[in-house]
Amino acid sequence: MNSAKHAITRSPDPYHLASKYLNPKLVEVMGILGFNKHYTRYQGCNLFTEDGTSYLDFHSGEGFASLGHNHPAIKRALIDALESDLPDGVQIHYSSHSGELAEAICRHLPSELNAVFFTNSGTEAVEAALKFARSASGRPRLLSCDQGYHGLTYGALSVTSESYFKDGFGPLLPGCQTVPFNNLERLEAELKKKDVAAFIVEPIQGRSVTVPDPGYFKQVETLCRKYGTYLIFDEIQTGLGRTGKWFALEHWDIEPDFVLVAKALSGGYMPVGAMITRRPIYNKVINSLDRCYVQHSTYGRNRLSMIAGLASIRVMEEERLVEKTEQLGLSLLAGLHRLREKHSLIKSVRGMGLMVGFELGCPGSLRDRIEWKLIHAASEGLFPQLVVIPLHRDHHIITMASGHNDVIKLLPPLVATEAHITQFLNALDQVLTSCRDAKGRNWKTIYDIARRTLGGTSPSAVRSEA
Ligand SMILES: Cc1ncc(COP(=O)(O)O)c(C=O)c1O
Repeated sequence: MNSAKHAITRSPDPYHLASKYLNPKLVEVMGILGFNKHYTRYQGCNLFTEDGTSYLDFHSGEGFASLGHNHPAIKRALIDALESDLPDGVQIHYSSHSGELAEAICRHLPSELNAVFFTNSGTEAVEAALKFARSASGRPRLLSCDQGYHGLTYGALSVTSESYFKDGFGPLLPGCQTVPFNNLERLEAELKKKDVAAFIVEPIQGRSVTVPDPGYFKQVETLCRKYGTYLIFDEIQTGLGRTGKWFALEHWDIEPDFVLVAKALSGGYMPVGAMITRRPIYNKVINSLDRCYVQHSTYGRNRLSMIAGLASIRVMEEERLVEKTEQLGLSLLAGLHRLREKHSLIKSVRGMGLMVGFELGCPGSLRDRIEWKLIHAASEGLFPQLVVIPLHRDHHIITMASGHNDVIKLLPPLVATEAHITQFLNALDQVLTSCRDAKGRNWKTIYDIARRTLGGTSPSAVRSEA
């Protein structure tokens, strides 16, 4: 089609140039795991290869495609924007769209969260919040949680806990420390020192899909207020409907000092993130005319990102995706609990809305346990591939190992249907049944990867980023 001529690639094999110019190790790992498909079209919950084979996406690019791929309303809004020749990149200027998007986000947050800074990614929203918290509090230290993930730029990396991401990149930001998630005593012990600018925390820990204890966040809010520490709620993955509420903070009726959002705001198209805080906090940092430009980004509120964000919120409101997500999440969790009763390989099931994880357990027989140990010795995070690979290879369903653990994370697009949930549960049932045969193909595949890994290559590099 002539109108799309600039979107046509001359390269039939996407992995050849990626291997040459981008990240050859990642390309190698994708090959080992069999994920190196050439998808040529994405629509809604499905990805299609050139021969028309359809793959059901139950990961949605870690929440990037929360509204499904290439949602027609977002696409239309972006085409209209391009055809309107709107201004952009004029730094001393505000478009109406940026104000409208800020207003639309704030409409779904507690009313005191009403001051917004737009970024190009999640990690930049984290950076902005850390800077604002330090500046407004005048305090140096930053607390975060064990197993927490907040991004990979230096500030965000400094409050991310896993050494996998940090090793070799130090020294990191001084004054950063972690406490265990769900542990109020350890949190209070640090807050009491009254030198902590902010406690940054994910509502549900994305790397392990760990949900908070029921009273945890209400107490966290109280403790942070008591000791003058700002509470930063990193809703980059949970925000905008993912957990069956507009923002996860609604589950516990709390009002953090900062909320961070990105991923779903993109509509599956544009890089965009936002830090939302209270106006008095914002004004403490940008406190004079001279300081009006101290927090700034060239692309931060570019027209296409603002329009994609506005269209995304409109779609969520019109399609009532938050309510639908709550219902679908219940179906998915109920189905997984049923499978847990049937298959001992599933140790636990957890999640909220359509952010769901299930953890695999150690098999019962001695022989399987020996293989299990070898697989873990090869790479923490490899074992879930026992299920992820056949789901992809045999049932054409995309899921992901969650992190350095035995958890498989499910983040289906919020536009998924009950039929998609049933399709997934039936496929998972078949995969788990086939995993009962320790001499079968699934165990052999993973065992071979483990042996190969111990020989040098590390498939653990393929995992979700959070
Ligand atoms: C909770 C959380 N915070 C921050 C980030 C970083 O966002 P980005 O990858 O857009 O920089 C992520 C990404 O996965 C995330 O899940």
